[in-house]
Amino acid sequence: MRVAAIIVAAGRGERFGGLKQFAQVNGESITARSVRNARSVASHVVVVVPESYEGDGEGADETVCGGSQRSDSVRAGLARCGDYDVVLVHDAARPLASPALFARVLDPIAKGASAAIPGLSVTDTVKQTMERDDEVIVEKTIEREHLVTVQTPQAFRRDVLVRAHAGNPQATDDAGLVERLGERVVVVDGERFNVKITEFADLEYVTQGVK
Ligand code: CTP
Ligand code: MG
Repeated sequence: MRVAAIIVAAGRGERFGGLKQFAQVNGESITARSVRNARSVASHVVVVVPESYEGDGEGADETVCGGSQRSDSVRAGLARCGDYDVVLVHDAARPLASPALFARVLDPIAKGASAAIPGLSVTDTVKQTMERDDEVIVEKTIEREHLVTVQTPQAFRRDVLVRAHAGNPQATDDAGLVERLGERVVVVDGERFNVKITEFADLEYVTQGVK
């Protein structure tokens, strides 16, 4: 199985207030750390960067410019993975995804699955809300037994991911596009500390986790 990885690092970081993916932690950028983790399983790593990027490639084998939405950036990376059987897609903003997790999402693919993603069981009670008279009120409580929250890295057979992206659709994750094809997506255990840096406070959490 020849494995390539796409590290998407072309976002604007609007909620963070800047290009979070290039913040430094322990002398290394968030993106460089994600590239390094992906390299534990991938023989080719493509990093997708903003057009304004002037860095040295974050340790990846190839650097390409992304697009305005995440799915556009994934497609820019996917165009550089033509020689590979399996493609991993990973958010640069998740620098704590461990090499073990990268290996775990590849297991189902090696056994014939088209797609595998990390998921975490929901431990908090989940409620659906609605707005009424300027207040947010509870509409109902959601049964959480079968709910998972989903992370990256996500692993795909390359031909399936290419089909999922045909017609340039948008989605917050690639598995969502594969689901639309009717393909089976396998869920493996995610990692509690594999947070996505979204708000500025998340950087503090990640700094604690990087040793
Ligand atoms: N991403 C990307 N291209 C985009 C949008 C997002 O490569 N057009 C990447 C981000 O750099 C990040 C990952 O996708 O590594 C997850 O996206 P998100 O956490 O939403 O990051 P941003 O889009 O940068 O943040 P925000 O939505 O707050 O602007
Ligand atoms: Mg975003």
